[in-house]
Amino acid sequence: MQKSEELIGKKVLVTAGATYEPIDPVRFIGNRSSGKTGAALAEEFYLRGAEVYLIYGNIHVPLPTYSGIKKIYTPTAQQMFDVCVKLFTDVDMAVLAAAVADYTPIQFSTVKIKKEDGEMTLHLKKTPDILKTLGEQKKQNQILAGFALETNCLIENAQKKLTSKNADVIFANICSEENPAFHVDENEIVALFKNNQMKKLGKNKKYILAEKMVDELVMLLHDKI
Ligand code: CTP
Repeated sequence: MQKSEELIGKKVLVTAGATYEPIDPVRFIGNRSSGKTGAALAEEFYLRGAEVYLIYGNIHVPLPTYSGIKKIYTPTAQQMFDVCVKLFTDVDMAVLAAAVADYTPIQFSTVKIKKEDGEMTLHLKKTPDILKTLGEQKKQNQILAGFALETNCLIENAQKKLTSKNADVIFANICSEENPAFHVDENEIVALFKNNQMKKLGKNKKYILAEKMVDELVMLLHDKI
């Protein structure tokens, strides 16, 4: 069921899900992302005619099964980074919906760490920032979209992210008790654009918001052509 042909000939990269940073063979540092938004975006791009790369981490939803969506599993931040950087030169647009862990253990223990008396310290290093790196590599005709999940100062923080990562748009969603953002069907999103324009996409089911986000991204792409 193809909805439209507006993205025929276009290539889109979407990241989804959470990266898990291994501590030992059974433990990891992760987060609560389910991958629902990224999966819905990939499907929506495909249904509008795009060739889609879905670069996914750890997810808790079924992924779209269309053969036109190329799926690449990247469980850690470094693996997701490597694949995204490699593919970015070949795509018209990248939409980074994955919840990438910001830190990863400096050392991976090949055996399960045994508990001992007293406190335990885990030494962490920063993971590579995919959005920032793609922002540095972005060419004039490419569109780059990121996400911001904030518990406070949503617009201010999202605006900072837009500039510091050289993105064309940041989709900001608030995480609060009323709007938990993770493992729920609904979300509330505000789109912030480079020209300081702000658009409320409203509170809705994640797949409806995916349609609205793709509408915005299609308009941005057409502005560049
Ligand atoms: N992102 C990324 N690579 C990372 C971390 C995040 O590409 N190593 C992307 C996410 O996919 C998302 C956006 O960056 O599109 C989120 O921005 P980020 O600055 O990481 O947000 P926070 O983790 O909330 O950071 P901060 O605590 O600095 O607000």
